[in-house]
Amino acid sequence: MEYLRIRGGRELQGSVTLPGAKNSLLPILAAGILCNEPVTLKNVPDLSDLHASLQILRAVGWQAEFVQGTIQLLPAEKMKSIIPEKAAGAMRSSVFYLAPLLHRTGKVELPSPGGCRLGQRPIDIHLEGLVKMGATAAMQGEVLTLCAPNGLQGTEFRLRYPSVGATETLMMAAALAQGKSRLENVAKEPEVMDLARFLNRCGAQIRGAGTECIEIEGVPALKGATHTLIPDRIVAATLFAAVAAAKGEVHIKNVCPVHLAGVLELYKRMGMQLYQPVPGELIAGMQNRPKALGQLKTGPYPAFCTDAAPLTAAALLTATGETVIEDTVFENRFECASEFANLGARAMKQGRSIHIWGKKSYSGGSARASDLRAGAALVCAALGAKGESRIGGLEYIRRGYCDLEKTMQYLGADIVKISD
Ligand code: EPZ
Repeated sequence: MEYLRIRGGRELQGSVTLPGAKNSLLPILAAGILCNEPVTLKNVPDLSDLHASLQILRAVGWQAEFVQGTIQLLPAEKMKSIIPEKAAGAMRSSVFYLAPLLHRTGKVELPSPGGCRLGQRPIDIHLEGLVKMGATAAMQGEVLTLCAPNGLQGTEFRLRYPSVGATETLMMAAALAQGKSRLENVAKEPEVMDLARFLNRCGAQIRGAGTECIEIEGVPALKGATHTLIPDRIVAATLFAAVAAAKGEVHIKNVCPVHLAGVLELYKRMGMQLYQPVPGELIAGMQNRPKALGQLKTGPYPAFCTDAAPLTAAALLTATGETVIEDTVFENRFECASEFANLGARAMKQGRSIHIWGKKSYSGGSARASDLRAGAALVCAALGAKGESRIGGLEYIRRGYCDLEKTMQYLGADIVKISD
């Protein structure tokens, strides 16, 4: 069994350069399939979700190599339309391959990606938009089959919810559709904008990414491109939470503060010193107990993002008072509440919310990750504990962080990975 052994009580000091964003990487890898020429991606983090994506790319016929932070993709001679069950089941992001494979092969079969601990995570908005563009959808057992033998047609479509993934699926679908598309009530996350930048670099005609409405003029084909991923804003939020829990001062490089809308002001309200020594860098410092924040709600960008919610909960376990965070995005974001309690903190899941009663200190203990951000939150909580903790479920953490324990070790934490 593999776990992280963390001995709390050590302040964090040092500087960290943010890796490329996982939530840019995953849709852009799928979008690469739309291209007729080679694609090069830079600033790529080594994550387990990356390797699951490379499996899908190779299974449908592409050559995909990952060497020292760079990915080279070479187009398939003849593309296949079946997404392998193992890779599809390994991550939700296999959904991103629906639109590209529909365009390139006229058909796609996806073993249903299913829900995860965060909630059901249906894909109805993706499918509603693709059907409006002319695809047919059917479930055969556990396998979703989409067909578009005559290609996809541009359309006007209003998303019922600004889903990040559905916005990205429909942007990819519209990029090569016949005619114009207008997508309304779309997601505005920085990763959506990064995907649009990549597609436009390949010759797509996409306007308005990052606003409420995206307009796309379909083009007959896309060439290749070289693209550098934006920094991972959730890794930045993870570092803020670690500093708030363990105290100290961390210098974060390759950061886009504008991408941290809705997060930075919360950490300032907690009492964190946050300033930009030079553009693209942030220094985060915390010496005292965080101030509690009362009632908080997550929401679509630029609101306080759902992925930072469990991390912020970890930061507030020693706060001087109570905080309640409601996640309006996922119905089951706070499985980690009972795990925080296993570390000796006072936290409770109440429906879609977590209620935290800040304590001056808590002991540490054994806890287990149930999803990616919960895992990172437990690491931050263990860094802030007085004693020793053991954190399991590292397979979840590896999905979104390359060597989180090495980063924290480098910053002075007493953290080691143990396999026994
Ligand atoms: C993306 O997931 C991110 N993943 C998530 O990050 C992030 O938490 C989420 O956006 C919200 O910001 C990637 O980008 C790879 P959604 P996604 O579609 O696209 C419902 C992480 O930890 N919904 O915006 O799946 C859905 O159930 C991960 O890095 C429908 O009902 O999120 C959820 O309640 C976790 N029907 C809400 O919308 C649909 O067709 C938001 O989902 C699609 C979504």
